[in-house]
Amino acid sequence: MRQSSLVVVSNRLPIDDSVAPDGACEWRRSPGGLAGALHAILDRTPATWVGWGGKVGDAPALPDIGSLRMRPMGLTSEEHSGYYEGFANSTLWPLYHDAVLPPVFDRGWWETYRAVNQRFARAAAEAVEPGGTVWVQDYHLQLVPQMIRELRPDVLIGFFLHVPFPPPELFMQLPRRLDLLRGMLGADLVGFQRPQAAHNIAQLAVKLLGARVTGDDQITLDGRAIRTGAFPMSIDVAEMQALAARRDVRERAAQLRSDLGRPRRVLLSVDRLDYIKGIEHRLTAYSELLRDGRVKVRDTVMVQVAVPSRERVDSYRALRHRIEGEVGRINGEHGRVGEPAIHYLIQPFDRAELAALYQTADVMVVTPLRDGMNLVAKEYVAARADASGALVLSEFAGAADELEDAFLVNPHDVDGLKETLLRAMEADPADLERRMTAMRSHLVGHDIVAWARAYLTTLDRTGRVAAGLRK
Ligand code: ADP
Ligand code: G6P
Repeated sequence: MRQSSLVVVSNRLPIDDSVAPDGACEWRRSPGGLAGALHAILDRTPATWVGWGGKVGDAPALPDIGSLRMRPMGLTSEEHSGYYEGFANSTLWPLYHDAVLPPVFDRGWWETYRAVNQRFARAAAEAVEPGGTVWVQDYHLQLVPQMIRELRPDVLIGFFLHVPFPPPELFMQLPRRLDLLRGMLGADLVGFQRPQAAHNIAQLAVKLLGARVTGDDQITLDGRAIRTGAFPMSIDVAEMQALAARRDVRERAAQLRSDLGRPRRVLLSVDRLDYIKGIEHRLTAYSELLRDGRVKVRDTVMVQVAVPSRERVDSYRALRHRIEGEVGRINGEHGRVGEPAIHYLIQPFDRAELAALYQTADVMVVTPLRDGMNLVAKEYVAARADASGALVLSEFAGAADELEDAFLVNPHDVDGLKETLLRAMEADPADLERRMTAMRSHLVGHDIVAWARAYLTTLDRTGRVAAGLRK
């Protein structure tokens, strides 16, 4: 097998086997932030990407994309349920997101999680050339860094957690906390979205493993120094700006606006259908504003775009059921013929359509109860070429650290959320322009390439790995 100097490992690959019949490969932009954002920087990098092709069964044969080699992994149905739906998405995911739903601790899932991590680690260890770099992504593969270290002590190992890393008192609930912590700390650099996460891991490493804090953002464990740090992830700002500038996208935005009946105000939300996204809190706030007559369907409309996610997991199925019931109720009680209160679109959109939607929205409503970053908020800002529009953003999204000029809100406080929505809807255009201009200029200097460069340069200290990235 040909080896690469850079190997990326994530649960999900950014493409699946929906390859065009003539063999030409289409990138399938995964609706999640990770695969979509990483593909933006790796599509011109000589590297190998190890990950799951997205369907249960044998690994699909996937073609390379330019200089990026795909190394697809299969998942059996037992693995899909124990590793992906079980330990990753029913234990770690809710626990890491403030336990907004109670995490499920099923003793049967651990062994599958460990075995799948071992298989991904072996694949990565085979794919990396001597002295190369392996960059492991996210909570699905938390044991992989340590496993690679055992298999290939010659390589540099990075780990980046895209989701929040919880405070010690929550992490301590995990029955396998020692293995999970040791697994991550097998890396040379453990990266997070927010600085607090780096403090959390240091505290845990000291308390549970007897590690020492040996510097700012450095832990020493068993005589080996491990660096930690915050590297807030971003989007392909140039891509979104270019889309927003396209004539057909601008025409499409005007068309959407007219299809919506030319309301005075359009509120937009775009989420994976996940209980961390605070969709129900926002629907409650909007519905109460309608009920109290503070918002009228005559001049205001909400568009909720959602992509189904993890559909076989009970909590996700139940969420979808509740949301669809609530949207139906709100439209039934407040809509008029030809004037629904909410347009609910549960379907994937291409990037151009998303850019047009962002341009259509006067107020973008992003209200997660907890979110590692939330790239949708950044996409909205990048799409607002004329610096108009208001962003209502949860304090509990990583993006709130950077987008301080948004209308920041605590989504658990529904009354506060209602007031903030009204403030954003009624804001003075000059104030909106000032806020949006500040957020846009921040994003330009902090795009996805800057993120990857900052991380990889901290990892290898020489900039050699980052030199291969798109400029
Ligand atoms: P998460 O990673 O939790 O899903 P993010 O907001 O960080 O949340 O990333 C979501 C990504 O998925 C964004 O790039 C967004 O544009 C994309 N996305 C969301 N909804 C859709 C949709 N309906 N169709 C296509 N892409 C979508
Ligand atoms: C989040 C996670 C990613 C994941 C994505 C989509 O962004 O951090 O690792 O890929 O959600 O979820 P899915 O379960 O469809 O991969």
